[in-house]
Amino acid sequence: METRKTVWITGASSGLGLHTAMAMRDDGWRVIAGARSFPEEEERDGMTLLKLDVTREESVRRFCERAKEISGSVDALIQCAGVLVLGSCEETDPEEYRRVIETNYLGMVRVNRAVLPLMREQGGGKIVMFSSINGLMGIPFQSAYTASKHAVEGYAECLRMEVSPFGIQVMLVEPGDHRSGSDLYRAHAAAMTESSPYAKEYESAIAVIHHDETNGSDPDRLGRKIAKTLDRKRIPFRKRIASPDQHLAVYIHRLLPFPLNAAILRKYYIKS
Ligand SMILES: NC(=O)c1ccc[n+]([C@@H]2O[C@H](COP(=O)([O-])OP(=O)(O)OC[C@H]3O[C@@H](n4cnc5c(N)ncnc54)[C@H](OP(=O)(O)O)[C@@H]3O)[C@@H](O)[C@H]2O)c1
Repeated sequence: METRKTVWITGASSGLGLHTAMAMRDDGWRVIAGARSFPEEEERDGMTLLKLDVTREESVRRFCERAKEISGSVDALIQCAGVLVLGSCEETDPEEYRRVIETNYLGMVRVNRAVLPLMREQGGGKIVMFSSINGLMGIPFQSAYTASKHAVEGYAECLRMEVSPFGIQVMLVEPGDHRSGSDLYRAHAAAMTESSPYAKEYESAIAVIHHDETNGSDPDRLGRKIAKTLDRKRIPFRKRIASPDQHLAVYIHRLLPFPLNAAILRKYYIKS
């Protein structure tokens, strides 16, 4: 008889989702992982892979039904699926904003809606949602992503209050920069060409963002931290996993009047 606990993970084909899935597996969990690029169903590297597109209701329903058939229950759900569209607020098209919100925020909402009835029936469970430091503060040219992660933060607070009577715990993971993400999911808004009035500042900010990510923290370590946390009976509501300077940036953001904080962030991202 299966004695392992089961975790379902979205966005597990690359980046932090993949590293978290591998860490959960290594920690003894049965892992059912979803992503669009996965085959319909396959056992690979000690995990069950299922095709999943969190922007499509039907795909989410099929994923959850099949995962339930396979595992019977879900002890933890980890939501990592995410995309980024970089661009100025002026030139990022509403459709580009929609793409990011559809995946990063509404994707989580869809999967939670499908999983919550099962967790209520079984008398509890743990829901982990990947936010970001950008869920707490904005940076130039990442407004779509920042808005989507702020939505996740607000939504998670509401969710936690509603589901705690059912024994369901909620945790937000707020990673700082990690060197894992795939360039596939870091699109530029179509209008961000050389003729953009923001071109020079954009180029500077993109170089800093790229540098910080490629020199970011170790994704395996993040995976292990999440696995260790999920082994506990009670999990924290917020878990920030970031370098000391990014912890400091969040602290300063809270402490300083916004114009001062904005000036510091502009100086950091926009090198003139
Ligand atoms: N890397 C960092 O430094 C960092 C920092 C803070 C927060 N985060 C957060 O951590 C999570 C992972 O980001 P990452 O940068 O490490 O990974 P990533 O390499 O950008 O991977 C994104 C993952 O999301 C999946 N995905 C995208 N659209 C999807 C959809 N519609 N349905 C299902 N899956 C979808 C992708 O797989 P398919 O294309 O196969 O679907 C892929 O597995 C994201 O939520 C991100 O916001 C990352």
